[in-house]
Amino acid sequence: MTRKLFVTTALPYANGPFHVGHIMEYIQADLWVRFQRMQGHDVKFVCADDAHGAPIMIAAEKAGLTPQAFVAEVAAGRPAYLNGFHIAFDHWHSTDAPENHQLAQDIYKALRQEGLIVERTIEQFFDPDKGMFLPDRFIKGECPKCGAQDQYGDNCEVCGAVYAPTDLKHPRSALSGATPVLKSSSHFFFALSSPRCVTFLKQWAQTPGRLQGEVLNKISEWFAEDEAGQSRLADWDISRDAPYFGIRIPDTDDKYFYVWLDAPVGYLASLKALLGPAFEGYVADPEVEQVHFIGKDIVTFHTLFWPAMLHFSGRKTPQHIYVHGHLTVLGEKMSKSRGTGISPLKYLELGLDAQWLRYYIAAKLNARVEDIDFNPEDFVTRVNSDLVGKYINIASRAAGFLTKRFAGRLSADLGVEGRTLLDGLRAPSEAIASLYEERETGKALREIMALADRVNEFVDQHKPWELAKQSGQEAVLHDVCSVCIEAFRILTVYLKPVLPALAAQVEAFLQVSPLQWSDAQRDLGASGSHTIAPYQHLMQRADLTKVNQLFEAPVSTTVSTTVSPKVSPGGEDIAEEITIDDFGKVDLRIARIVKAELVEGSDKLLRLTLDVGEVDDRGQARHRNVFSGIRSAYRPEDLTGKLTVLVANLAPRKMKFGVSEGMVLSAAHADGKAHPGLYVLQPWPGATPGMRVR
Ligand code: 2FM
Ligand code: ZN
Repeated sequence: MTRKLFVTTALPYANGPFHVGHIMEYIQADLWVRFQRMQGHDVKFVCADDAHGAPIMIAAEKAGLTPQAFVAEVAAGRPAYLNGFHIAFDHWHSTDAPENHQLAQDIYKALRQEGLIVERTIEQFFDPDKGMFLPDRFIKGECPKCGAQDQYGDNCEVCGAVYAPTDLKHPRSALSGATPVLKSSSHFFFALSSPRCVTFLKQWAQTPGRLQGEVLNKISEWFAEDEAGQSRLADWDISRDAPYFGIRIPDTDDKYFYVWLDAPVGYLASLKALLGPAFEGYVADPEVEQVHFIGKDIVTFHTLFWPAMLHFSGRKTPQHIYVHGHLTVLGEKMSKSRGTGISPLKYLELGLDAQWLRYYIAAKLNARVEDIDFNPEDFVTRVNSDLVGKYINIASRAAGFLTKRFAGRLSADLGVEGRTLLDGLRAPSEAIASLYEERETGKALREIMALADRVNEFVDQHKPWELAKQSGQEAVLHDVCSVCIEAFRILTVYLKPVLPALAAQVEAFLQVSPLQWSDAQRDLGASGSHTIAPYQHLMQRADLTKVNQLFEAPVSTTVSTTVSPKVSPGGEDIAEEITIDDFGKVDLRIARIVKAELVEGSDKLLRLTLDVGEVDDRGQARHRNVFSGIRSAYRPEDLTGKLTVLVANLAPRKMKFGVSEGMVLSAAHADGKAHPGLYVLQPWPGATPGMRVR
């Protein structure tokens, strides 16, 4: 039976380019989709930019763009990544598109009709300078539990406490530095705590096959009842006050849907943009299976809020939510500052083969919610030993003889041993298919490589290179090489979901039409007249030095290659000796960058507003204004909220653009032309504004 599958990956926030974690998720879903299509199933595979929300609105403002223009710029960068890694969505949309406005509003109205939208007045922090309510992430202050400074409004990164922003001591707005005030406003809630919702969600989540065991366990906490017999599931606040970049709530002037309300609706909007008028019929079709691939951090949205929204607005709910873990690098969470982040574009620019990454990730993926690790040495070993050493090698060892001696024609005979080998390769086709279906791709690839091992043993036993030298062995040579090519074709069928571009090259080389899963059972040479094209190199070996370049800071191409007789650290000699008293004259302090802005008329400077823990005569926080020549190295939004080190007792300096009250420390090579790069100093976690550096 042909299945109808509607498949999505999580919609990425349109606030920046993809990181490798996005690419990992897309590879997982893309290979699953390709596998389904090879089985003859019908798949609609869509995604979109998640365009709305306060952080994007604020980032756009900082960049001097409208949110729409900001999001469009990010969206314009997407194809380079998707094409580069052979990720073939049928459609890429935006949650700010008209389809999404319409669908989100319709779903909301249907929920309201069901009596599941309630209105309540709540008190929230409001930034009087910016004239807006502050999302938790934009409120900072002292942890109410452990007293750590500079903690976010929802949780403390030092002691792990979770609290409401109103619990913070000395709260301040991360946008303006102003002290927020409490202000009340009316909000709309989705009544998830109502017994109808809880009953439905329990039944939905517990349907066999719907969720992975570990995911069901985790969300079941929400179904447990507290002492008063109440479910722990609380009503969900789905509204935000203007100014907000989002979708207007029907029948209000100044209220918008919280971004997480309209984000998943974007799955439907993207599908609607793809299908046009056929959309409503398609999503209502009981045969359509809706499948979402997501990361472990957004489980609650997809297993509680989203199915409830769909169900109570009279729509079908997802069949499967497939949750994966995160990608770590050398066992650690990726971090740009430690140089362990991998930029997917840099990967492509270095000329590394996208299919190596596809293969490596696929080889590590399983159906559980486990993190997977990228390790450069392991990467190179797997690519070279599996893909090149085991798989490609089979074709390169046999094809030349077929072309030179037999005009590329495959033998119809193949011999008993050859036939047995090929039968052994065809037999596990169903088992391998099941592994792909279950997202056990690591296991599938191990099976496939074990089959490749068998083929290589066959080659080693029959030694075509020796047969070629012996007289009277023509027919045997013909059979052995034909078996290899047939085996190579079967392995290509199995690997095609992971290596689509390579499979296309192989199809051209073998002169066959696009391989489907069932082609593994065919016998290409049976007619005795099938010929293959001359073999052309199919894949390079990976080189560790090149892969390691992924992690290096960008190096200028103008670096001189002549060795200088004397090497000075950082390009300059250590300065003349000073005493500790000399050093004591320099007062270095930890400063928090409250605001960083471009300076009109200067392409070198950024204007920094710094909090050094100072107060003025009236006890109000006093901020310093400092101009810093770091514009070439940092975007303002990269700096906001960060800590740095300031020379706090430097005489104020009058500049063209205003007075600079101190100097921020940064590192650079003395020869900035040959060694570009400028690095602002950042203290270790725990330092707080005003602390002296000595
Ligand atoms: O966590 C995120 O990156 C969200 N932008 C995911 C949204 S998924 C879906 F709901 F749109
Ligand atoms: Zn704390």
